[in-house]
Amino acid sequence: MSQTIAHKTLHGPTPECLGPVTSEEARLLEKLDLIRLPRHVAVIMDGNGRWAQKRHLPRIAGHRQGTQSARTTIETCARLKIEALTLYAFSVENWRRPKTEIDFLMQLLREYLKKEMPLLQKNEIRMRFLGRIHELPAAVQKDVRDAMEKTAGNKGMVLCVALNYGGRAEIVDAMNTVLREQSGIAAPAPITEEHLSRHLYTEGLPDPDLLIRTSGEMRVSNFLLWQIAYAEIFVTETLWPDFNRARLLEALVEFQKRERRYGGIREGLPATEKPARVAGE
Ligand code: FPP
Repeated sequence: MSQTIAHKTLHGPTPECLGPVTSEEARLLEKLDLIRLPRHVAVIMDGNGRWAQKRHLPRIAGHRQGTQSARTTIETCARLKIEALTLYAFSVENWRRPKTEIDFLMQLLREYLKKEMPLLQKNEIRMRFLGRIHELPAAVQKDVRDAMEKTAGNKGMVLCVALNYGGRAEIVDAMNTVLREQSGIAAPAPITEEHLSRHLYTEGLPDPDLLIRTSGEMRVSNFLLWQIAYAEIFVTETLWPDFNRARLLEALVEFQKRERRYGGIREGLPATEKPARVAGE
């Protein structure tokens, strides 16, 4: 154990990694243990429409402002050396929205990938997309593929954008892959949790330790249903376009106050889970 601690202190992120901070951020950073950060943070970015409505603006103005919050969250998590960040950008249910709003969201994502590529590269971010990507418009699919290819060699945080994503759809897709694998096998081995996990869109990533939802709704909205089995859930009243670095640090501080028991009676880890993230690993 003492070896791990020595290793952690040698390579952990420092408060300086965030650059200049406000007095509120400095106060939050003092409370934060930078060697006990979550390995994987997932975010349901909600409240863009309400943010716009409060300002008598069209809903799309809220989405545009929401990209600023995405930028801040992505950069901050990367600098804190969090292993993975997953943002829920478009769900399988979002096709029910007006076509103009859907088109705007697709366009916004394409613009974002183009405009933010230098920031993603500078921070060594590797991009992944979770969802039924093959059902998206061809131009979006191309940009998504390009973004993955351009960032494939990066060694820093994995940024997953959930796009045309549904938690149930993901489990169904994984099950169908397993069934295809097993077709023709007379007596296939029973499916295990590990086996199914390997066929989820998040294959190879740790499960989220922290799920953040903005705008106060107490729902998981079909997001990472399998993976959030043991995640700590942090719901904030803040609307996504107002979610800034201080609000993110606040969520991380709150996460560290929780006692994670994984169904046991004291803090411990299920056999399949790696120990809490070790900075520098
Ligand atoms: C929920 O707000 C938000 C969305 C469905 C879209 C999220 C997309 C972005 C923030 C922009 C792009 C993201 C990336 C990663 C570049 P809502 O419209 O449901 O808000 P409401 O509940 O107040 O109506």
